[in-house]
Amino acid sequence: NDEKQAYKERIKSLLKEKDAVLVAHYYTDPEIQALAEETGGCVADSLEMARFGSKHPAKTIVVAGVRFMGETAKILTPEKTVVMPTLEATCSLDVGCPIDEFSAFCDQHPDRKVVVYANTSTAVKARADWIVTSSCALEIVEHLDEQGDKIIWGPDKHLGSYIQKQTGADMIMWNGACIVHDEFKTKALKDMKALHPDAAVLVHPESPAEIVDLADAVGSTSQLIKAAQEMDNQKFIVATDRGIFYKMQQLCPEKEFFEAPTQGEGATCRSCAHCPWMAMNGLKAIEEALLDASGKEVFVDMELREGALRSLNRMLDFSA
Ligand code: 13P
Ligand code: SF4
Repeated sequence: NDEKQAYKERIKSLLKEKDAVLVAHYYTDPEIQALAEETGGCVADSLEMARFGSKHPAKTIVVAGVRFMGETAKILTPEKTVVMPTLEATCSLDVGCPIDEFSAFCDQHPDRKVVVYANTSTAVKARADWIVTSSCALEIVEHLDEQGDKIIWGPDKHLGSYIQKQTGADMIMWNGACIVHDEFKTKALKDMKALHPDAAVLVHPESPAEIVDLADAVGSTSQLIKAAQEMDNQKFIVATDRGIFYKMQQLCPEKEFFEAPTQGEGATCRSCAHCPWMAMNGLKAIEEALLDASGKEVFVDMELREGALRSLNRMLDFSA
């Protein structure tokens, strides 16, 4: 509509005026993803967002996603201004992994390598030996296991168990979960599969094991999008945030995509297939961040940054 169009036009000129680039995650609303594409920014998974922002020449990076993605951009390019539509956009994995408790847990097992998911604070990243995202976690843990390393894994227990099952690595787990992926319902998904026997099931590994067990493909957001393009099926049931449908539909206009069920088995969902923090990234908030960065600029502690950069760079070099 007209109001949205007006926001978009103003944001486009502000991006130019401020030498800024918009980097958006696949879970943000379709209009944000479209705007990032139209303005020469990118829409990506969390690993690609980090790479894109660190290589792009713009002076300012606008990160439409959640807090850890903004912090990762700042850790990689401290000389740039990194702003977010809102700094309140957190992640249940980050919230559920406070540094003091996590560090004490690691201290109890000094013989183990600490591998943490990117969905964490700068302090937790600094405590880690390795950072991983869901697109490279399997390969990195495989590599560590081959070296004979034993692992402390945090914070996502579902992604952790999936990786442990796949690699057979010796892992002890922090007890965290994503409130969005935790809501997918097994029986309702089986019923949906029975209704659409020709549909392939695509699952993000932050989902519980019983959901992952029903998958035809498991992977990060960009890996799921690739699977939708490459698999011969015409129908897909997708167990991840519904923001991903924008890109799937754009790349595969002739295919049909269904949301995996989040209701059923006597329960209703709290965050039905859409992350409440990703949803905070609206057009108005993006314009405000570009007009006045105060209260929306991401800063990280410079001492912690050094440690976090070391473990982030390990991941980036490994998966280059
Ligand atoms: P990806 O790395 O697959 O984009 O996942 C990030 C995330 O927060 C998923 O919930
Ligand atoms: Fe965190 Fe889950 Fe939201 Fe991803 S979808 S940002 S893991 S709460």
